[in-house]
Amino acid sequence: MLAAGVGAYAAEPVKPGRDAGALYAQLCANCHGAQLEGAKAPSLRTDQLKHGRDDEAMLRGIRDGYPSNGMPAFAKTFSEAELRGMVAYLHEAATRAVDPHLQASHPLPTGTQHSEEHAYRIEAVAEGLLVPWSISFLPDGGILVTEREGRLRLIENGKLKPEPITGVPKVAVRDEAGLMSVVADPDFARDPWVYLSFSDPGDEEGTAMTKLIRARLRGNALVDQQTIFALPREQYQKSYVLFGSRLVFQGDYLFFSVGVRGMETDVSLHAQDLTVPMGKIHRVFRDGRIPPDNPFVDQPGAWPSIWARGVRNPQGLAVDPRTGHLWESEHGPRGGDELNVIKRGANYGWPLVTYGINYDGTPISDKTEAPGMEPPVKHWTPSIATSEIEFYTGDRFPQWKNNLFLGSLAEQTLYRFVIDNDQVTHEEILFKNIGRIRDIKTGPDGLIYIALERVGRPGAVIRLVPEADAP
Ligand code: HEC
Repeated sequence: MLAAGVGAYAAEPVKPGRDAGALYAQLCANCHGAQLEGAKAPSLRTDQLKHGRDDEAMLRGIRDGYPSNGMPAFAKTFSEAELRGMVAYLHEAATRAVDPHLQASHPLPTGTQHSEEHAYRIEAVAEGLLVPWSISFLPDGGILVTEREGRLRLIENGKLKPEPITGVPKVAVRDEAGLMSVVADPDFARDPWVYLSFSDPGDEEGTAMTKLIRARLRGNALVDQQTIFALPREQYQKSYVLFGSRLVFQGDYLFFSVGVRGMETDVSLHAQDLTVPMGKIHRVFRDGRIPPDNPFVDQPGAWPSIWARGVRNPQGLAVDPRTGHLWESEHGPRGGDELNVIKRGANYGWPLVTYGINYDGTPISDKTEAPGMEPPVKHWTPSIATSEIEFYTGDRFPQWKNNLFLGSLAEQTLYRFVIDNDQVTHEEILFKNIGRIRDIKTGPDGLIYIALERVGRPGAVIRLVPEADAP
């Protein structure tokens, strides 16, 4: 629970709310149709809602109605939180009706792909991987790849080596748990450290926790293993979801994310509690030491590596090369996925403010913003299941330089965002439906490399290669 004295926010209990789907069936379906398809009232599925599709317009419409046009006001029926829940439900149900999630991934497209700025083709670099979660380049052009089942692989001279690298710690593999990020040290050529994050199995059956180690890569083996981050084993949680686990270097610092590690309300509140590392972004030196200027080092009881709090399940971390600002993407529950700029010591609000609702349709919070909580740069309802983000820093796609690429799992989509002044000023969808995008990296050759978990076929590492002809 929340610990006093470490700047924790008192959580106002959310009044128990009713399930949005059930309320829709009971109160709305006879006019708008069971599948939102429209009946005696208009369809709620289309993108061209008469009164607007943004959250505030929809919320106002449901609360105040359009009585002269036959839409009753529901202000007396719903709490504020239930109104939010209903809006999230309508977005989700409308999308599901048009674009069912988790369809089998399509084969890789052949031929030239066209986009706003560049024409490119998609090439397979390595195939036959099991849930490739993360990739990292070595100075000699080799690519390290983690497979979630617990294997670290090497793509050498364009070929996936059949035998995995040895010396990888034993990992818990279930639900979302497994071997996750791999990052080679920026000075790998001088000292070959490799950093790994994974779900460490606890002593007690059914428990696990995010853990971070580094080890030197010698030949085909990891040696000299050191722990960079771990929780005391008696504090491991009984849950195999929401590990966070993304890693990114900035100069001498290593940032990493730890998810809240469970779905229950009291577990979610860990994100606000500075005495535990869950639901946080952390910053350490490369060897795990705590930087003396971390924001909470002087607060008694606070976990000293915390850099920012109030995050749920951060699956993406990247540093904008122009500003040095740290960006993060995270999974909301049902709805409420977020893209954030992470500031030193800031609070991102989970679970006290959110655009999402519980998986059972009940509300989490009646607030989407509050004083002292950082709003997201962008948020998604329904969830697209955001994963890794990457600022493109290569030269092969000049018009994409410094654009932010974001992958999604559920929606199997690659997004490109133009970022200006820490805001998204333009966005484009590059492709959809060829796989759940787990990782995106600029290669040393300036090409864009992507780790793809494919639904209904083995995973792959692919790359985008520019085509000479104009788009
Ligand atoms: C008695 C029939 C009726 C019921 C019940 C009803 N609606 Fe409506 N609703 C309408 C009509 C008619 C309109 C179109 C209003 C207009 O044209 O301005 C509408 C419009 C809306 C709009 C705005 C659509 C747009 O195009 O901008 C939303 C959102 C909406 N309803 C949601 C709901 C929800 C959620 C419920 C249940 C809690 C509900 N409605 C229940 C009749 C109904």
